[in-house]
Amino acid sequence: MARVFSGIKPTGDVHLGNLLGALNNWVTLQDQADSVYCVVDLHALTVPHDPEALRADTLSLAQVLFAVGLDPERCTVFVQSHVHEHTECAWIMECTAAFGELRRMTQFKDKSESASFVSGGLFTYPALQSSDILLYDTDQVPVGEDQRQHVELTRDIAIRFNHRFGETFVVPEAVIPPTGARVMDLQNPTSKMSKSDESPQGTVRVLDDPAVIEKKVKRSVTDSDSEVRFDPAEKPGVSNLLSILGAATGQTPAAAAEGIERYGDLKTATAEALIEMLRPIQVRYAELAADPAETARLLAVGADKAREVASATVGRAKTNMGLLPA
Ligand code: AMP
Ligand code: TRP
Repeated sequence: MARVFSGIKPTGDVHLGNLLGALNNWVTLQDQADSVYCVVDLHALTVPHDPEALRADTLSLAQVLFAVGLDPERCTVFVQSHVHEHTECAWIMECTAAFGELRRMTQFKDKSESASFVSGGLFTYPALQSSDILLYDTDQVPVGEDQRQHVELTRDIAIRFNHRFGETFVVPEAVIPPTGARVMDLQNPTSKMSKSDESPQGTVRVLDDPAVIEKKVKRSVTDSDSEVRFDPAEKPGVSNLLSILGAATGQTPAAAAEGIERYGDLKTATAEALIEMLRPIQVRYAELAADPAETARLLAVGADKAREVASATVGRAKTNMGLLPA
């Protein structure tokens, strides 16, 4: 079975884009591959953060992952900082990656340009990400397009290390989901839906109350004529609603448009479908949130499973590159 690894940062609230673009796919993959999923809290340290918020977001994200259907019996779910091999191997990655390679990463350029404080960790972020991926002998990394460059760097690091020190790491590849899974902002349908603090009214959070979801969908930006048809170039707002409605009801966006004549009806149908889709997730989330000890237990099981693989890999890397056994 192929090994799949992916990670998600515990920053801000999980939204519909995360769910439809990434997490639903993770749930599917847990039965098709040997899947390992990580809440990458160490990556969240690369930018200024609030300690209490990070702790709360990490716990809550883990609970969302279980609530959307990741099953600790069928996959591995853990928190990055619980498996210290990630930071240990990150140093090996930093010393294998070239400075020039790291300097070319567009995410670093984007994030450092406007920041008032740029940490060293923001620069070496992709080395930690390479460590995440290579520790698990990963074949496939499901990520969004914006992460392709980091996975390419990971491949280059693995190939270089294997070439210098002998076969050590599996060379992974990125698996980018079809563009259909891109969810756009409800207020600004030509931009991707993203963290809610940037556009609170345009972002549907997975944990939003039904009344809030209804309000956000009803107030979403549509297009100037009044025809309901799927045409992302000409009608970005309506097409986004059709994509969301389709995803929530298991149809193509064009099929979702059948029988809907008016914008008002499209919004009602979309809000109802979203509320239905999110209801069971929110119910499971509430159960988990009421029992943090159970989440801690599940995460400990995940970390134990992860550590077993990660410690073998980092041990192999240390030996092969000439570190003296303790
Ligand atoms: P982020 O919230 O940017 O950390 O992304 C976490 C995961 O969700 C990544 O795999 C992204 O590709 C995916 N994702 C984020 N926003 C969207 C969106 N608007 N549409 C589809 N996928 C998204
Ligand atoms: N950098 C990724 C993001 O911003 C998150 C991430 C960290 C990740 N480690 C990973 C994704 C390993 C895939 C594999 O979305």
